[in-house]
Amino acid sequence: MLNTNKYKKKLAVFISLLVLFSSSCSADPETRSDTVSGYISKLSLTDKMIILTGPGNYKPAGVGNLVYGIAGYINGVDNKELKLPVVKLADGPAGIRINSENYKTSSWPSATLMASTWDLDLIEEVGTAMGAEAKKLGIDIILAPGMNIQRNPLIGRNFEYYSEDPLLTGKAGAAFVRGIQSNGIGATVKHFFGNESETNRKFLNVISDPRTLREIYLRGFQIAVKESSPWSVMSSYNFVNSVYANQRSDALTDILRGEWGFEGFVMSDWYAGNVFSDQDAAARMIKAGTDLIMPGMVLPQLSSSVEKGLLTEDDINRSVDRILGRIVQSPSYKDYKPSGKLSFEDNAKLIRRAGAEGMVLLKNDKSALPISSGSKVALFGVAQIATYKGGTGSGNVLSPYMVNMADGLSSEFELDNELKQFYIDYFNKNKISRKDSFVPVLIEQADEVSVDSDADFAFLLNNAAESNSSAIITISRMAGEGGDRVASAGDYYLSERELELIKAVSSKFHSQNKKVIVVLNVDSVVDTAQWVEYADAILLSYFGGQETGNQVADIISGKVNPSGKLAQSFPLKYEDVPNSGTFPGFDINKDGKPDFILNNEGIYVGYRYYSSFGQEVSFPFGFGLSYTNFSVENPKIKTNTLSKSNDSTIVFQADVKNTGTVSGKEVLQVYVQAPEKVLEKPFIELKAFKKTKLLSPGENQVLSFSIDADELASFDPNRNSWIIEAGEYKVYISNSSDVKNIQQLSFSIKKEIVVAECSDSLALPEGVTVSDVVNITKKR
Ligand code: BGC
Repeated sequence: MLNTNKYKKKLAVFISLLVLFSSSCSADPETRSDTVSGYISKLSLTDKMIILTGPGNYKPAGVGNLVYGIAGYINGVDNKELKLPVVKLADGPAGIRINSENYKTSSWPSATLMASTWDLDLIEEVGTAMGAEAKKLGIDIILAPGMNIQRNPLIGRNFEYYSEDPLLTGKAGAAFVRGIQSNGIGATVKHFFGNESETNRKFLNVISDPRTLREIYLRGFQIAVKESSPWSVMSSYNFVNSVYANQRSDALTDILRGEWGFEGFVMSDWYAGNVFSDQDAAARMIKAGTDLIMPGMVLPQLSSSVEKGLLTEDDINRSVDRILGRIVQSPSYKDYKPSGKLSFEDNAKLIRRAGAEGMVLLKNDKSALPISSGSKVALFGVAQIATYKGGTGSGNVLSPYMVNMADGLSSEFELDNELKQFYIDYFNKNKISRKDSFVPVLIEQADEVSVDSDADFAFLLNNAAESNSSAIITISRMAGEGGDRVASAGDYYLSERELELIKAVSSKFHSQNKKVIVVLNVDSVVDTAQWVEYADAILLSYFGGQETGNQVADIISGKVNPSGKLAQSFPLKYEDVPNSGTFPGFDINKDGKPDFILNNEGIYVGYRYYSSFGQEVSFPFGFGLSYTNFSVENPKIKTNTLSKSNDSTIVFQADVKNTGTVSGKEVLQVYVQAPEKVLEKPFIELKAFKKTKLLSPGENQVLSFSIDADELASFDPNRNSWIIEAGEYKVYISNSSDVKNIQQLSFSIKKEIVVAECSDSLALPEGVTVSDVVNITKKR
């Protein structure tokens, strides 16, 4: 067990001794464009500092009407020699957030749902459409995608993030960035780094060993920087190993720019860190590699640090240069005239298609689904009315409309009208509303009907079981920025009333040999183990944006054959999560909020843990059913040029055949089990994946997967190097992370390959060792 007292003593010291991290690595060697250099010479020192500090939460002069209510701006310049426009920044991961009733914007499927499509072309297509909408509104830079790791099911912003796996996170994020940026506007990957919880996020010290940071928490960002060149990176609120992430020159300068070649600018998260309480914090942020301090208002602090000699004009020029490099690419700089006219109809089609593509069929006993269109269906649960399109906070969107599940399913099935009316009335009478602090929108919810004490409901249930051919029960969960969820009934676990409902409906319908389907309209993982036996089918819909109800109808009716696969593991119970004992952190100063959190599972995040330690799960990472069946044949290694050179690869191949009776798509995932001579390794790690096209019954497709040397490598913290160890590598080409019955391929590496040598960085706080933090290791 974790020796928390040991950490508490050591870390209490470190929390009080938060010092500026110094690194021996050299600064980035970017080349500057002539235009930008010319501009810098026309700016006074004050002009430059104004560029580095946004205008705060108000609309700066010179911004057109179209963009009132967005998250922030980069100040423009208007001096005798130079005019630069104000640049506009808007959230977020599932649609453009504009806090104005005058501007509705499309609400897209959540990042988790998009990752569950495992379709990078589709994610790029969505990014392209979202970017096009932003451009029409005059936005220059979108504050998305969110790329933190879903290490715990309760993370409040999981819905804004892609996956528990860094490869899937990185590839999905890169595809989204490419799509957004294809419009000539910018994307921002966030929150860099270690922001894997919301509780006390501005003051939380994340303690994590360098290998874990490199392999798990930084890896997705690294892939996105390499594969999509985002215009900007948003640093995170939290400390990492006792230094604010936005003041870490090792991460922001040595790794991000020096090792990965990032060429954009870094902005802080909004009101991050100690900029107002510590006069020189803003200067330290700039020195470390944060370029833009958002939403601003720190000009006095910055000026005073310059006067004190803590920040030089060269430091300031470096950041101005990086920001100007993007300003000159922006639509505002190019005098683009936004039309403000949005194509909701086109977007609606794409939103509907994209969301349905990610929904995951978790269970489907005796082909309970699909249900033929036009069938008589009894729809239960308040979530049919209060269907959530997305989470709250800066990821929320004011959309033009929302199709709830009752309406979506009505267009496909003959819904039991009395029951529907009952739920409408019940909801209106019992709903409670709360205002989201970020978006002027009401979040409405109601407790589930009390099956035992509501006589009207009992009567309707009896009738419904007589007169309908099946039952669908809807369950929802809301989550959002600023807080994490809890592992109790009504949140991670279903509430008593929800459980009662499932049991009562299942007993009535099963007694008539009729099927019961549960739809989960949830942000992230919820418990399924307590009630799975009562449902014939379970559809995990997540948050599908404004078309959620239609997407659910498309899957339930079989118009769309489900092909989503889990991007996160569903544990048997919350206590099985390897960091359940340490999340959301430890409160050492007894103010009721956690002060530090340990990444105590080290590299064993999600399926890396469950597969390595033989821990059974409800549904494994990568899992998802279809209405058809597939066979995977002829798995083989096609070519192998793995050598010392960095562009070497190993290519695998397998045939996928639709052996069932309806058309469908399958996702193949390549998991590698690496030898453990130098480093301990997870049982398996995802190294590549691909989705088939829509395969007709009997149709075959050959999929090939290429894994680069740097994707195969693990990080050796003793040598600060990415290495491919010598030895035998086992490979599984599978349709989930459960590889028990999968044919094994193997290849050998004769001599260790050092893929990259890196800076010595991200050290644990002085005196803290890896074994103080990580309490999970394999016996070797
Ligand atoms: C969030 C960011 C967001 C920013 C601007 C912050 O509270 O953490 O993700 O982009 O606000 O709205």
